[in-house]
Amino acid sequence: MHQWEVEMKGRYGRCVALTVFFAACASPAWAQQEQQALPEEIRVWMERDQTQRWAAMIAEGDSIFNSRSCRRCHGEGGTSGRNGPDLTDAAWVQSDGSLEGIRRTIFWGVRREDFAGSEWRFEMNPGGGVDLSWEQYSSLAAYVWSLNNGTHLPER
Ligand code: HEC
Repeated sequence: MHQWEVEMKGRYGRCVALTVFFAACASPAWAQQEQQALPEEIRVWMERDQTQRWAAMIAEGDSIFNSRSCRRCHGEGGTSGRNGPDLTDAAWVQSDGSLEGIRRTIFWGVRREDFAGSEWRFEMNPGGGVDLSWEQYSSLAAYVWSLNNGTHLPER
């Protein structure tokens, strides 16, 4: 047998072994366990946890927005300032207004050549010129999004 034949056989063997392994992983018993619905108690517990997280994100976004540069340009609560557009109307010009789109705008800022309105004097720097963590970008996006979509928090 040539050397390359030995190599090919070795490779083939490994391939078969891998295929058998993955086939075993995808067996119905395993898949069934994965698909099993969570017990009601856990589902309710987790949902409450998520709701609290969402509330905390909005609260954090609120405090950053209204204590940092955002407020100076966009006004208190985003209700239109001298140097930035109203963020409480449902008209989005820099993105589709989704959470992801808003976060992207805040992350990258807005350059002068990308302005939708010509009345603005200053560019919006990335992060509004504030040094933010990734979590804080998400919190700001949640807060800005909630300004015209509602917080969706249950009554307490
Ligand atoms: C120097 C002023 C300035 C600061 C500071 C600033 N912005 Fe802006 N912002 C602007 C301008 C100008 C635009 C673009 C308006 C346009 O396209 O006509 C903008 C656009 C946006 C948009 C997109 C609006 C849309 O319709 O798509 C969001 C969201 C936003 N800013 C959030 C923030 C947040 C959050 C902060 C604080 C971290 C911030 N901005 C800080 C001036 C500012």
